[in-house]
Amino acid sequence: MAEEPPIANVPAHVAIIMDGNGRWASRRGLPRAAGHRAGTQNIRPLLEAAAEFGVQYLTIWAFSTENWVRPKEEVGALMRLLLESLDRWLPELHEKGVRLLHIGNLDRLPLGLQDRIRQAIELTHSNNRITLTVAFDYGGRDELVRAVRRLIADGVQSADVTEDLIGSYLDTADLPEPDLVIRTANEFRTSNFMIWETAYSEYYISPVLWPDFDRAELYRALSDYSHRERRFGGLRPVSTSPHRQQ
Ligand code: FPP
Repeated sequence: MAEEPPIANVPAHVAIIMDGNGRWASRRGLPRAAGHRAGTQNIRPLLEAAAEFGVQYLTIWAFSTENWVRPKEEVGALMRLLLESLDRWLPELHEKGVRLLHIGNLDRLPLGLQDRIRQAIELTHSNNRITLTVAFDYGGRDELVRAVRRLIADGVQSADVTEDLIGSYLDTADLPEPDLVIRTANEFRTSNFMIWETAYSEYYISPVLWPDFDRAELYRALSDYSHRERRFGGLRPVSTSPHRQQ
């Protein structure tokens, strides 16, 4: 259990752009896939720490719509890592009350992986300790394009288009907007991550490479967040977002 002083204002939804796996590997003279493997092993302890700190939704970005252009060995390694992780850890995650969700394109992934993801979502759908959303083949612009296509297919009239309606067509329709986005490996970019949902999110950039991002660094990020004043465009600090929340 948590041994650190409790944090007063824990963000309900933390999203992580897990960056730096490649650098972690190359600093050790290892292939990039070894960095992704180390990064994958880091997810379980971080999820547990997040749940203990009181985070209710953790979203991790594991494969972007732009990552397809990487060498096919690296793309294959990332697909295999997700499949292996689900095979290996799903029973334990389920037992610990973790609900799993996926955002992004499912239909471009290998069929076996699609099935496994669907099964994981189905199995864990009533769990409520923490929701782990895996963004896999996910990009913010792609998500918006797919949302607009569905909206048009549904015959929505222009006068009926509102921010809430657009939000309800996004992959994240069942999630509150992220309160805090953490990006590791000292990169100061959004890189097309949740470009609609993070309009009012706070950002924390960590110098630590993802495989080394540990409980203490997560605590540092959450503590830093707890001292921020969020005003959502107004003049006074607001404790919860006036925007779309669950
Ligand atoms: C960015 O690091 C990270 C990725 C493109 C993938 C993140 C994936 C994982 C942590 C593992 C797979 C996830 C699951 C859920 C099994 P980079 O390779 O761009 O690092 P670099 O900028 O140092 O090269």
